[in-house]
Amino acid sequence: MTANLDPIQEAKQKAALEAVKHVKDGFIVGLGSGSTAAFAIEALGERIKRENLRIMGIPTSYQAFLLAVKCGIPITTLDEHPEINVTIDGADQVTPELNLIKGMGAAMAREKIVAAASKLNIIIADEQKKVKLLGENNQVVPIEVLPFAISLVERKIAAVGGKPTVREGKGKLGPVITDNGNAILDTYFGEIQNPAELEVKVKMIPGVVETGFFVGLTDIVYVGTSGAVEKIEKLRK
Ligand code: 5RP
Repeated sequence: MTANLDPIQEAKQKAALEAVKHVKDGFIVGLGSGSTAAFAIEALGERIKRENLRIMGIPTSYQAFLLAVKCGIPITTLDEHPEINVTIDGADQVTPELNLIKGMGAAMAREKIVAAASKLNIIIADEQKKVKLLGENNQVVPIEVLPFAISLVERKIAAVGGKPTVREGKGKLGPVITDNGNAILDTYFGEIQNPAELEVKVKMIPGVVETGFFVGLTDIVYVGTSGAVEKIEKLRK
């Protein structure tokens, strides 16, 4: 455990430590992106050293790749291991139905591919990420777009009720360019009653590579709090 964390960082780390308990020897593990997922990558690195675990990681971003290498996690690819045992990732918003908005780190395209290849998807978060409806609190939905298509996608998104803004870089002039060479349209839809339906409408737009909607993909969410870690599981139908 890292000492002297502020309460939010501590909550993220607690959730990460719970999630990492699901990893067993021989597992292929999807490595999520963002500050919460980073705690899970560090904890996995520590388990590898302490327990001599033989696991391999599939990073969802360049950030996750660099951290995994630093933590001593052997890296593999989806081509070598098409089936992932468990993926541990963060989220920007989580509903009681375990639907998510992801992508404030611009990594949602690879995150969704890794999640779709994973037998078990675990999301880790602090309490601030819990909402009733996606889009609450003015949360935008990140949409990854081919640069060639930005103006077309902006118009089509407006036609389905969204207000898109091209995400600008920090520390570099101009738009954010994702690990896949694309742009991000942070899109305000207001509170979203039916994310599955809206996701389909947005993904139908030519030039849209991926959206930050993660609907029906998550199995378990661990929410770190100032006290215990809350576990929310998908209700089986
Ligand atoms: C990146 C993501 C992240 O998982 C999400 O933005 C949460 O990040 P953090 O844990 O730093 O709040 O989806 O694309």
